[in-house]
Amino acid sequence: MEISIPVITSVDVEAPILDVIVKRRSKRAYASTPVSAEKIQSLFEAARWAPSSINEQPWVYIYATNDQPELWNKILDVLNESNKVWAKDAPLLVVSLARKSFSRNGNPNGSAHYDVGAANAFLSLQATQLGLNVHQMGGYDRHRAIENLNVPNTYEPVVIMAIGYPGNADVLPEHLKQRELAPRVRQTQQSFVMNKVF
Ligand SMILES: Cc1cc2nc3c(=O)[nH]c(=O)nc-3n(C[C@H](O)[C@H](O)[C@H](O)COP(=O)(O)O)c2cc1C
Repeated sequence: MEISIPVITSVDVEAPILDVIVKRRSKRAYASTPVSAEKIQSLFEAARWAPSSINEQPWVYIYATNDQPELWNKILDVLNESNKVWAKDAPLLVVSLARKSFSRNGNPNGSAHYDVGAANAFLSLQATQLGLNVHQMGGYDRHRAIENLNVPNTYEPVVIMAIGYPGNADVLPEHLKQRELAPRVRQTQQSFVMNKVF
């Protein structure tokens, strides 16, 4: 017998949470305002303090601002066309990568991607606090990323992030504009939280 939990969605916040969690969203319209070196440092500092399996901290970031066109274009180049169309306006692109093995013994780190995700979440919330928008993207060509960025075999690209100050949604193609302005939807807690066995 298959047991399924009914999935119900809602746009409401069901219980009190941090303001930055409410405010964070993956926007696609960016202002041309550059992101200062201090703010960039704060983003990576937030990632630095994320938890990780046996404190391995398996994350590595490659970033480029659009005033470094050579490196910035090497990152933009790997994105799927559907992401490139809006990510080209983000003044900051960041590639997150995972070190595949534990540095202490060389064993495969099954938590590496999980830990990079946690670090990216910390980075995203810090960005929200600074008035910045982070949009994570899994839609890119991994092989091209490895090639363009000369990634050694010991690392794997995870997600690429487009970062900048929110801009005017009017510049987006109509279908993306509508998504930008639509309310954020989530499954209700009732759909994924259990206080009983399956
Ligand atoms: C691992 C991952 C991959 C994603 N890949 C893409 C992507 O390639 N393109 C895109 O537009 N959004 C992408 N997103 C953003 C999600 O679509 C977005 O987080 C989700 O719709 C919820 O919206 P919100 O972040 O505004 O709350 C990705 C997010 C994550 C965490």
